[in-house]
Amino acid sequence: MSLTQIKAKITGTGMYVPPKVVSNFDLEKIMDTSDEWIRQRSGIETRHQVEDQGTADLAYEAALKAFESAQCSAKDIDLIILATLSADHMFPGSSALLQARLGLETTPSMDLRAQCSGFLYSLSVAKSFIESGAYKRILVVGAETHSPILDYTTRGRDVAVLFGDGAGAVIVEASPDATSQIGKVILHSQGQFADRLWVERPGTRGGSGKWLTQDHLAEGKQYPYMEGRYVYKHAVERLQEVVKEVLETEGLTIADIDCFLFHQANIRINEKVAELLHIPLEKCPSNIQKYGNCSAASIPMLLDEMVRSGRVKRGDKLLMAAFGAGFTWAGSVVRF
Ligand code: COA
Repeated sequence: MSLTQIKAKITGTGMYVPPKVVSNFDLEKIMDTSDEWIRQRSGIETRHQVEDQGTADLAYEAALKAFESAQCSAKDIDLIILATLSADHMFPGSSALLQARLGLETTPSMDLRAQCSGFLYSLSVAKSFIESGAYKRILVVGAETHSPILDYTTRGRDVAVLFGDGAGAVIVEASPDATSQIGKVILHSQGQFADRLWVERPGTRGGSGKWLTQDHLAEGKQYPYMEGRYVYKHAVERLQEVVKEVLETEGLTIADIDCFLFHQANIRINEKVAELLHIPLEKCPSNIQKYGNCSAASIPMLLDEMVRSGRVKRGDKLLMAAFGAGFTWAGSVVRF
């Protein structure tokens, strides 16, 4: 295969969520919220939470499923890319912990921080490495352990009820034919809005002694802050734009797409995007009801569920799109 002919494809998928399930009714017992408020505003009914696992542990379980599905094993992997906003430690990256758990000696591994768009950013990196001939088989994982960094009191309720823990993984390899390939991944970011959705502390900004102070803790700066309505508005606009952009790039229309795999942040965001772009809702599957927003893990988790349930088949055209903190957003058509 000559360099210009190499295309990258997804050869296997996997997902994992920790066993503990937390319902909206469970949250009612620990903060001033209601099942009705959460379901109406977001579509979420339950989410999974870790008890003693970390992000690399969730990633490990999802990776094993993806190896099985791609009929390969950890030792066949040339590179690991792990997308997360909730790493086990500040450093090193969770990808290094994952590499060790997989029993690998010196296989390269990297974390990619693009928040809820992290999976699509990682897919773009994997595609480029495969198509340049640098690597033959890449493990891409999106994994999040949000629950330890959420404020499960009434103060943090606007954010805490929305997020869950989970991991999704894919194997990316060279494709011998054009029927299965990852199309161009369109990437965007707009850092001017960083403070509309962020965890400010711990952080290096401000110099020595400002990493994490008692004042920061008292103000709750170690928890995510989100301007919900602002994020909602931008998400609806940017997702519409990127869907149009990828369709134009690929010379396709909405009708050509078999399945739209949108980031699972809020069912209302995706329903609004579908309405405005005239996408039939039956082409927009969702699993946010069960898992909440799993940030970088949400698209690979949804993909795995759709593949295993038979709703996504080989040759299907899948349009993936995500929006998240940064702000970052991204989209791609994947011929599965
Ligand atoms: N339970 C009950 N009430 C809550 C609550 C909760 N968990 N969280 C907030 N509220 C309250 C607010 O305090 C507010 O009360 P007030 O009117 O007395 O001030 C009220 O509910 C309405 O809040 P509002 O912000 O108007 O709700 P909303 O309709 O905008 O919905 C979000 C809030 C967060 C669901 C919505 O803005 C959203 O989906 N934003 C995007 C979130 C997202 O997807 N983020 C991730 C992107 S990757």
